[in-house]
Amino acid sequence: MASIAIDGPAGAGKSTIAKMVAKKLNYIYVDTGAMYRAIAYYLLNHNINIENDTALKAACDQIHIQICYENDAQQVILNQENVTPFLRTEETGNMASKSSAKAPVRAALLDLQRNMAKNYNVVMDGRDIGTNVLPNAEVKIYLTASSNERAKRRYKELIEKGEQADLNKIEADIIERDTRDMNREIAPLKQAEDAIFIDSSDMSIDEVVNTILSVVKDNL
Ligand code: DC
Repeated sequence: MASIAIDGPAGAGKSTIAKMVAKKLNYIYVDTGAMYRAIAYYLLNHNINIENDTALKAACDQIHIQICYENDAQQVILNQENVTPFLRTEETGNMASKSSAKAPVRAALLDLQRNMAKNYNVVMDGRDIGTNVLPNAEVKIYLTASSNERAKRRYKELIEKGEQADLNKIEADIIERDTRDMNREIAPLKQAEDAIFIDSSDMSIDEVVNTILSVVKDNL
């Protein structure tokens, strides 16, 4: 089985790009952020204080995450319930960033992610795929963009959905999330030594996809 790892900060376009690369190669797209979001959703719904180690460990013991696909789209099943529609809120994203720094949360997902790569050809995106989850991935990409550009993309997305948005607040949140994801003790976001760096600030989606496909062609 072959694995393509795509890591990078929030809003760099990882999921859009990873989905397109997976489709082109006929690989499975694995969104690991959605798994962390599903745990965050559980923790929020059950009012778990993530700073209380005993409570967090007990909660993680109750969490069972499964992944399945409907029309090529990843679905996250949390304790038998498909929670995919509830995962993309700012609240869940922020909680996912905080709770994913905790050891029991990371331990709850590592085997699931590794098993998927053992059983399928995958394009897997996240923060620690190339450095920690799949250190032997055939292709590793570190995809980023300036915080200003990432905030503008998120702003546009929210406005198009008819939601209210404040560009400065979005950028401040993005910077806060990056700082947390990059500075945590366990599996922080960082570029793997053997990852290809792509800054998508001034690139179109197709340009990024084609760059990755040419790296894949050279390495697989
Ligand atoms: O990519 P995303 O915004 O859906 O991820 C939500 C949070 O989950 C992110 O802020 C950090 C965490 N995460 C992680 O720690 N490791 C991963 N492989 C993927 C996500």
